[in-house]
Amino acid sequence: MSLLVLEDVGLRFAGRVIVEGLSLRVSEDDRIGLIGPNGSGKTTLLRIIAEEQSIDRGRIERRRGLRVGYLPQDLAVEGGIALRDFVLSSVPGRMQLDDEHAAAEADLEAATARGAGDDELLTLAGRISELADRAAHFEQFFSEHEAMRILAGLGFATSDAGRDLGELSGGWKMRAVLAALLFQQPDLLLLDEPTNHLDMPSVAWFSEFLKR
Ligand SMILES: Nc1ncnc2c1ncn2[C@@H]1O[C@H](COP(=O)(O)OP(=O)(O)O)[C@@H](O)[C@H]1O
Ligand SMILES: [Mg+2]
Repeated sequence: MSLLVLEDVGLRFAGRVIVEGLSLRVSEDDRIGLIGPNGSGKTTLLRIIAEEQSIDRGRIERRRGLRVGYLPQDLAVEGGIALRDFVLSSVPGRMQLDDEHAAAEADLEAATARGAGDDELLTLAGRISELADRAAHFEQFFSEHEAMRILAGLGFATSDAGRDLGELSGGWKMRAVLAALLFQQPDLLLLDEPTNHLDMPSVAWFSEFLKR
């Protein structure tokens, strides 16, 4: 089964053809290298696949529930968050779930304080238990243990987990973003010139990583 099918896709920027008549099928286990001169539209094509750029014509079909991990060419990584939390919070829906859980608990506390009726308290408690189940599900599939395993695999020391993302060099920031992408268990990983900001040892490390 294909992960992704593009059919006769076309896109122009200000009348200039960037992509025309493009058909492409991406299957599981495919490894595809995209090569072309600067300005030929490589980044644009990846952004189309990542749903960050709309198309003028053609059709794109994604496998249902397809998870795409996208490492953009220009990484905008802000500090102010610990490496471990950056990876943990990268899973879509995780932050929202934590927020909802906290809000539901505050609601129950407030309802209890003002002496709300049993029905209302039961409804609120039921909602908290449902949110707790979903949080446990997240914990099982996206555990801190797994985050640490991936960080270690990318060469981080255990003591790096608490470091602020902003303190890291360009190459290590890129590894941090990659760790967050891998943690999300994407079905399809898009890497746009991932070696741009890496020094030679990191490039060697990265090609080994991709081979594995
Ligand atoms: N959002 C945009 N609006 C207008 N032109 C764009 C936009 N994004 C890219 N382009 C132009 O489209 C062409 C392809 O760019 P890009 O996809 O970044 O190429 P590559 O990644 O192969 O270097 C370039 O001429 C670029 O200037
Ligand atoms: Mg590019």
